[in-house]
Amino acid sequence: MTAVINGKPQAIEPGERLIDLINRCGIEVPHVCYHPQLGPIQSCDTCMVEVDGKLVRACGTTAVEGMNVVTSSPRADAAQREAFDRILGNHMLYCTVCDNNNGNCTIHNTTKLLAVEHQEIPYKSKPYEVDMSNPFYRYDPDQCILCGRCVQACQTLEVNETLSIRWEDEHPRVLWDGGKPIGESSCVSCGHCVTVCPCNALMERSMLGEAGYMTDLPKSALDGMIDVVKGIEPEMGYGSIMQVSEIESHMRESRTKITKTVCTYCGVGCSFDVWTKDRHILKVEPLEGAANGVSTCIKGKFSWGHINSADRLTKPLIREGDRFREASWDEALTLVAHRFSEIKAATGPDSLAFISSSKCTNEESYLMQKLARAVIGTNNMDNCSRYCQAPATTGLFRTVGYGGDSGSITDIEKAGLVVIVGSNTAESHPVIATRVKRAHKMHGQKLIVSDLRENEMAERADVFLHPRPGTDLIWLSAVTKYILDNGLADQKFIDQWVNGAAEFKKSLKSFTFEMASERCGLPIETLTQVAHMIAEAKGVCVLWAMGVTQHSMGSDTSTAISNMLLATGNYMKPGTGSYPLRGHNNVQGASDHGAMPNFFPGYQEVADPAIRAKFEKAWNVTLPPKPGLDNHMMIDAIHEGNLKAMYLFGEEMSLVDSNANFVGDALTKLDFFVVQEIFFSETCQFADVILPASPSLEKEGTFTSTERRIQRLYQALEPLGESRPDWIIIQDIANRLGAGWKYEHPSQIYDEIAALTPLFAGVTYERLEGYKTLQWPVAEDGSDQPLLYTKNFYFPDGKARFYPVPWSEPTDQQDAQYDLHLNNGRLLEHFHEGNMTYRTEGIREKTPCTFVEVSPDLAGERGIQTGSWVQLTSRYGKVKAQAVITTRVQGKELYMPMNSTDEAVNRLTSSHTDKVTHTPAYKETSVQLRVLGEIGEDPLPRTNSRHGHPTPQTGVEVERKWKRKDYRLPGEHLVQIQNARP
Ligand code: SF4
Ligand code: SF4
Ligand code: SF4
Ligand code: FES
Repeated sequence: MTAVINGKPQAIEPGERLIDLINRCGIEVPHVCYHPQLGPIQSCDTCMVEVDGKLVRACGTTAVEGMNVVTSSPRADAAQREAFDRILGNHMLYCTVCDNNNGNCTIHNTTKLLAVEHQEIPYKSKPYEVDMSNPFYRYDPDQCILCGRCVQACQTLEVNETLSIRWEDEHPRVLWDGGKPIGESSCVSCGHCVTVCPCNALMERSMLGEAGYMTDLPKSALDGMIDVVKGIEPEMGYGSIMQVSEIESHMRESRTKITKTVCTYCGVGCSFDVWTKDRHILKVEPLEGAANGVSTCIKGKFSWGHINSADRLTKPLIREGDRFREASWDEALTLVAHRFSEIKAATGPDSLAFISSSKCTNEESYLMQKLARAVIGTNNMDNCSRYCQAPATTGLFRTVGYGGDSGSITDIEKAGLVVIVGSNTAESHPVIATRVKRAHKMHGQKLIVSDLRENEMAERADVFLHPRPGTDLIWLSAVTKYILDNGLADQKFIDQWVNGAAEFKKSLKSFTFEMASERCGLPIETLTQVAHMIAEAKGVCVLWAMGVTQHSMGSDTSTAISNMLLATGNYMKPGTGSYPLRGHNNVQGASDHGAMPNFFPGYQEVADPAIRAKFEKAWNVTLPPKPGLDNHMMIDAIHEGNLKAMYLFGEEMSLVDSNANFVGDALTKLDFFVVQEIFFSETCQFADVILPASPSLEKEGTFTSTERRIQRLYQALEPLGESRPDWIIIQDIANRLGAGWKYEHPSQIYDEIAALTPLFAGVTYERLEGYKTLQWPVAEDGSDQPLLYTKNFYFPDGKARFYPVPWSEPTDQQDAQYDLHLNNGRLLEHFHEGNMTYRTEGIREKTPCTFVEVSPDLAGERGIQTGSWVQLTSRYGKVKAQAVITTRVQGKELYMPMNSTDEAVNRLTSSHTDKVTHTPAYKETSVQLRVLGEIGEDPLPRTNSRHGHPTPQTGVEVERKWKRKDYRLPGEHLVQIQNARP
């Protein structure tokens, strides 16, 4: 198909927007409100072009065969200029003293493109104050051009539905919750609106007075300068004034550093540019991340207070009695090497254990397991995927072969139906949630949520299931049985691709809807509806997380999910598959790169002699043949006196492991404990040596996100004080133990990983340069697999396997004494226990502490109100917290977010585990509740977004603007504007 643009035929892609085609052809047409990731908004009218003799908006027009387009005819040109002139009536051009004058301001660049010299419509201030009530960004109505990008982003991309423009108002402006101060609205501070704003109306507060050379002047001086500039504009024209601002903008380049990095928080894998001036973080700007585009959540966009926190560890510390003293690196490393050697000589290599960090890089996990295996000689090696994701991996190993998401986030967007089981996606994986919310709101995707809490995704779902705690396996198996029994399965897919169907069908015998209804407390009609929705949907993706895995049946329930997907043929096609959502930014990568007791990198078995021989040859050592201890077994082994020393980095083990009191007791029993951290964490108090490490912005390496996506992070800042990147520290320790490693850059570590690991054979730093990514497995030629199973499943015969799983009663059940069920999980604003996020002041303001969610029924029965102090006691410990009364939880079920270092929920959880993986059954906890009689403020302050009232609408609703009496399409009356193109 072709269209003719300015007299030249141009090939068009099906469904291509005319503005995209024009841009692709390198023709310059202004387009202020258009943003490719938001779609056409059609509010600014600057993109007017002539099509077949008629003026149209290029952004709102689809290119079609034979179309004749003229982009700069006198009519189009006049219309573009008139439209832009109206914009300048809403925006004062004071670029030289504007923090947004960084070469990427759409208004500035359009002024330049149109060579605007003078304004016809004078700038008019709006009768509103600047809103500074959000700690992270501000809104200046006087600079707002009413393009509506922010509204479109909030309503249709983030789908928080906070923003709107009331076009009927005399002076329209952007509104939060229909007219609240930002800080008292439902805004979750995700930053989408700020990122897409084409000018300085919405800006990161960290930019203000910092980005420019003259932007930190007092307001009176700034206003004076602006007046001077305005005064000379009629005589000089904008051209000369813009030249000055261009020079100032170029000067900024020498002191502003822009570095691509990958988010350090959750497993979504958002990537973005971080702008820094010395150590000051000016802003985070997401543009083209493979996983996130322009999206972020509050953490990735704004939670960077930990980087320059005064609490950062900057020198090694050595214990002396009950205190720590500062030491030189030489002294600390010598001590570590000496004690490791001594303990190894006395009690053998298996009396030492190593725990890698799922916050640190792939290269660092690789080196840690190499240190354990090749230098010390033990497989006692694990990472925190043991606490959450190991059961999901097991479920997938059993049924489809690889322990990773079977597709990409784009597949989740494409699915006809998304089923979320035990995942608070909107808070734990916010950017993935935006994709589901968008598909659901805008594209008719269906959504089923199974959870104990009515979280945001549950509120939005077409069907919300609230099964009894620990019974997901039952309803999943019953639905699968119903599908198989009623001819709703994809029999062709099963016959061609799945082994074990007959035996599996037999294993489901007891999972009738009657039994499921009784055990799960779900109506049979709902189960029937769910079965039909799953069987009949055009592509099903199942997302699950800790609400499934942190149970004694975590592996089996994960298996049941995959069985259901196999029965319905929901693998091997775009828009289908299994998505265990990985929690930490690199929890996938830590396991992938061998930080496990039974696997070398790439899930190569340590017990396999041929594999071991390969690593022995490469590393020139003899390697231990038996799998080692996992995290859970390590704690038992310390209590039993068999484990004497431990080296742990980037992991708050004493708070995040279950039954924290028992874990803490174990750590006190170690003969020698090395903790490598960025802060003096709770776990540090048990250490003998503390080594100061560098966070993500201070080092290079790669992370692997939940969708198996490997991405590079670059160094934005020098390590603070004497802190060092983890890979350098691990290498130093290895070398003091005689290893002779000579890595000078993480890329050399990756070259070694690729050479030894078929899963990553084609991964190189060059192939990951900038924003390039690879989704494993990566073949030697660099080809990767966004969709994991296309030609076969990962078993010798290429077929998947049904894997029968029985159900058993959950552990730690309620009784007369411990009569309440306690659930727990993450909160949007904080990551995990909060060691990093609490260091960002704005986050602390909005979400200062943990709390306990109590249902209105229970609150009424026990006389509890929001703010009441209560004590929860389990069979393992106690914590004190304030109550929040909410309908998110029901009956005798409580919920406690895990963001607390003082009153950690894991003082209550048990040592019961998933039978297969030893993942703690965090979600199987019974407690008693005592009301303490004291009542304080609501633990969620007034400024917390949960108190807001969103205003959902379909987008910016520009048609309402077009209906205004004072609106007419620019160019319709050919207004003569004097400026000419250069
Ligand atoms: S939730 Fe808040 S920060 Fe996010 S797009 Fe909406 S208004 Fe902006
Ligand atoms: S605040 Fe919103 S409407 Fe105003 S200029 Fe920025 S993106 Fe456009
Ligand atoms: S925390 Fe997760 S969703 Fe939020 S910006 Fe980081 S990677 Fe993205
Ligand atoms: S870019 Fe087309 S109307 Fe704004």
